[in-house]
Amino acid sequence: MTDKFIPYGRHFIDDSDMSAVEEVLRSDWLTTGEKVDEFEAVVADYVGALHAVAVSSGTAALHCAFVAAGIGVDDEVIMPAITFVADAAMVAFQEARPVLVDVNRGDLLIDVDAIEDKITPRTKAILVVDYAGQPCDYASLCQLSDRYGLCLIADACHSLGASYGGTSVGSLADLTIFSFHPVKHITTGEGGMVVTDKIEFAEKIRKFRNHGITVDHQQRAQTATWTYDVEEFGCNYRITDFQCALGISQLAKLPSWLIRRREIAHRYDLAFKESPYISPLFVNDHLEHAYHLYVVRLHLDDFQDDKAEVFKKLREAGIGVNVHYKPLHLMTAMQVKYGYKAGDFPVVEKAHDEILSLPIYPAMHDSDVQKVIDSCQRILSPENSL
Ligand SMILES: Cc1ncc(COP(=O)(O)O)c(C=O)c1O
Repeated sequence: MTDKFIPYGRHFIDDSDMSAVEEVLRSDWLTTGEKVDEFEAVVADYVGALHAVAVSSGTAALHCAFVAAGIGVDDEVIMPAITFVADAAMVAFQEARPVLVDVNRGDLLIDVDAIEDKITPRTKAILVVDYAGQPCDYASLCQLSDRYGLCLIADACHSLGASYGGTSVGSLADLTIFSFHPVKHITTGEGGMVVTDKIEFAEKIRKFRNHGITVDHQQRAQTATWTYDVEEFGCNYRITDFQCALGISQLAKLPSWLIRRREIAHRYDLAFKESPYISPLFVNDHLEHAYHLYVVRLHLDDFQDDKAEVFKKLREAGIGVNVHYKPLHLMTAMQVKYGYKAGDFPVVEKAHDEILSLPIYPAMHDSDVQKVIDSCQRILSPENSL
């Protein structure tokens, strides 16, 4: 047993990561150099996509994806009501409307059957989220988006390394975005990526991440010219070369880290199998889960403590439980701007009352995993039932 606080997720940096970053820091190019191209190439190869564009965060990647998909004023983007706020925020930044739908009770993935009713002539895209690391039902989603001519965008910030029906996340949607924040599967400190098979999307994003400038410095050097144009404004969403060197070094370790994440998940599954108070989310067949999060539901109707009390006790025991996420429609910004209100998405609201994310990350020791299990079993003991 250890006394340290066990967070719900954290990065793992070793000497090879340090050397990779140091090498770039000692070189001539700190940004827009070869390491960016190399990181894009290895990620594209890993996920089976034709093009990858690295940017400064997952949020920037979302913004780029919406720009590429042509989301603009008064367009509608359908998305699940439980996800990270950036999904809705970036739609709002495009002056479009996030149209929320409920999720499946078992896996908290977007309820595909609920989407069709929300499609209007203004709908441009469906944004899906591989919540916790489990890929959505892409077979049905692709059929639906094809039928209505909509762009399918995957927020795969939780699911790098997952697959659905044998196909890697990253080649299942028109555009897929990843985050490399330290709690994610691999990190670049801050960072993100958009992957796509469509060259026109990739080209648009390359410009958008660099102020909309039509000819980047490498192209200008090749053609010995200083001129460039800006046809549409963009942002500075560039990522540095030393971040990309870290990303390349981290990606090489991802396969073993995924094995470790799945091992930890399996240990939790077994440990909580018989518990009346705690159950993991449902995992569907024909997919490989990437377990960014290990989310459980608490069943506390016959228990002395409510979720807030269980959360507090686990935190006091040094277990960094968390809740992913506050439902979008319960956020003030969504209520004021779009008129959402409590009661709109019952499955999401019930889930929010019940879910907890338990610690899971590759550097967790077996003793840490055991400490999480023991603490949960002690705090959620049948002796404390009503
Ligand atoms: C589902 C989801 N979408 C988007 C993001 C945004 O990524 P970033 O923090 O890199 O901007 C995150 C990261 O927390 C996320 O979990």
